[in-house]
Amino acid sequence: MEKERVCVTGGGGYQASWLIKLLLSKGYMVHATVRDPNDEKNAHLKKFEKASENLLLFKADLLDYDNLCSAIAGCIGVFHVASPVPPTSVQNPEVELIEPAVTGTSNVLKACSLSNVKRVVVVSSIAAVILNPNWPKDRIMDESCWSDKEYCKTTEKWYALSKTEAEGQAIEYSETTGLDVVTVCPSLILGPMLQSTVNASSLILLKLLKDGLDTIENKLRAIVDVRDVAEALVLAYEKTEAKGRYICATHMITAKDLVNKLSSIYPSFDYPKSFGPEEELGTGKGVTSEKLQKLGWEYKTLEETLVDSVESYKEAGLVIKHG
Ligand SMILES: NC(=O)c1ccc[n+]([C@@H]2O[C@H](COP(=O)([O-])OP(=O)(O)OC[C@H]3O[C@@H](n4cnc5c(N)ncnc54)[C@H](OP(=O)(O)O)[C@@H]3O)[C@@H](O)[C@H]2O)c1
Repeated sequence: MEKERVCVTGGGGYQASWLIKLLLSKGYMVHATVRDPNDEKNAHLKKFEKASENLLLFKADLLDYDNLCSAIAGCIGVFHVASPVPPTSVQNPEVELIEPAVTGTSNVLKACSLSNVKRVVVVSSIAAVILNPNWPKDRIMDESCWSDKEYCKTTEKWYALSKTEAEGQAIEYSETTGLDVVTVCPSLILGPMLQSTVNASSLILLKLLKDGLDTIENKLRAIVDVRDVAEALVLAYEKTEAKGRYICATHMITAKDLVNKLSSIYPSFDYPKSFGPEEELGTGKGVTSEKLQKLGWEYKTLEETLVDSVESYKEAGLVIKHG
């Protein structure tokens, strides 16, 4: 019997790699788009179990509609994961962030309509949820909360703006065309890396382990495991009742408490020495993933995520082995 064929955009990235590994293990035939199939940074994909029979790599930039159409042709499901995630601030937000995120999403969705795709799962972010100064301060943020685009502009939160615009557009496209689109909004993603280059969210944890900074901001963060996000994306695809947006965020913890937790497990790393005043999660007190849990989603403990992250950094030679 022909295996169910799905496409994953941005295949070589941190999250997409785990998603592809999971899809292959579940017997899917996967079309993965990458910017350069011959680039060493995508080599890990070919080593996944069942990759030789069931994984095809397609060259496609998000701004290249024709190549996206070729990658999506014949697929009944699409996971749109690709979007720029810069480790630091960018010089030209419109060109480096907004255009690839927004035009890229529009290109992917149009290609899906052309190929009669059954469902598209779009990876958004809690950055598209948590920057809303008008949300009541005493209320946990849920899927009805959207980041305020004007607020993102005035505070120069360009990544958040790119994700808010791209996700908003995906939902609007679904409403006007009838294409079945489900969006998933993960928080800070940590956990082991499968790819050889360090992605932006892993860099946040790596900096805490090795930069030995004097003082850092004491931000409240919500951490979710990269493997749990992969499960959430597949759930959002496979469950017929899945609809609309899903926040995918688990452990809420301040930077200070995170460092305390890490140093109780790994005492020898070069941790930050002091912390600023406690800050909110975006403009609020937190988010809930209750809707996703009702769909059947389960998640790992924070300890497991942190230990598996650190061990993967050790294995890759990114931190000292005896940390
Ligand atoms: N990591 C997090 O904490 C986090 C949290 C919430 C949401 N997300 C979302 O999760 C998704 C994956 O992020 P990640 O953490 O896995 O980061 P990542 O490793 O940097 O992956 C991003 C992927 O997008 C691709 N990409 C960027 N611009 C592109 C373009 N113009 N054309 C084609 N491909 C392009 C990158 O390709 P190249 O390798 O060629 O650059 C890469 O494969 C993104 O949508 C991100 O917004 C991430």
